[in-house]
Amino acid sequence: MSALNEKKVAALEAVKYIKSGMTVGLGTGSTAFYMIEAIGEMVQNGLELKAVATSDETEKLAKKLGIHVITLAEAKRLDVTIDGADEVDEDFQLIKGGGGALLREKIVAHNSDMNIIIADSSKSVSKLGKFKLPIPFATQLIIKELEGMKLAPVQRKRGAEDYKTDENNDIVDIDIWDTDIKLTDLEQQLKTIPGIVETGLFLTTTNLVIIGKGEKAIVKRR
Ligand code: 5RP
Repeated sequence: MSALNEKKVAALEAVKYIKSGMTVGLGTGSTAFYMIEAIGEMVQNGLELKAVATSDETEKLAKKLGIHVITLAEAKRLDVTIDGADEVDEDFQLIKGGGGALLREKIVAHNSDMNIIIADSSKSVSKLGKFKLPIPFATQLIIKELEGMKLAPVQRKRGAEDYKTDENNDIVDIDIWDTDIKLTDLEQQLKTIPGIVETGLFLTTTNLVIIGKGEKAIVKRR
């Protein structure tokens, strides 16, 4: 079965956790797309909910499908957030941010009572780090500092231009595969560097991982 079908299988399993009256966080990316599409259909069939979007792209899609989008400030707290990931390990730790939306995704995850991660089977890994870790940042000097830490930083591009997030930050993708620093320590070290806005390491927020594998959805609870 193709990765796209597995993404859809995982997304359709995840929306079963949504009940009428909930405030829901909507993730970003090609897997989240199927979840938003399914929620749009549920709303058209009478389900009442409010949603907070993790990117401009998600907000646009959700509104187009008739989903009532509000800001996080208006929502205050979310019942559940469903989002994709670039890698998921056995300890419910993630690398996210391939789609560049990690800052808002992390803030939304932090403010959700339950976080469900949906992914196709290629995203399930025994060790994080084959996928380069995205870091949104706001000063060019950061790259030198990350080079000094032997993290092989590469500025993300969109064509010839520097990539910009919805919040107008640059992104640098770093290589953490060979680092011997514990992930929690690495996260802390990176976030003490002024100008680094966030990292794509989501180490503690995930409650439920749903992996599409063939025709089946494999549900793992933390
Ligand atoms: C966006 C993300 C996405 O969830 C992640 O990149 C996975 O995307 P996809 O479902 O398209 O593989 O973190 O910032």
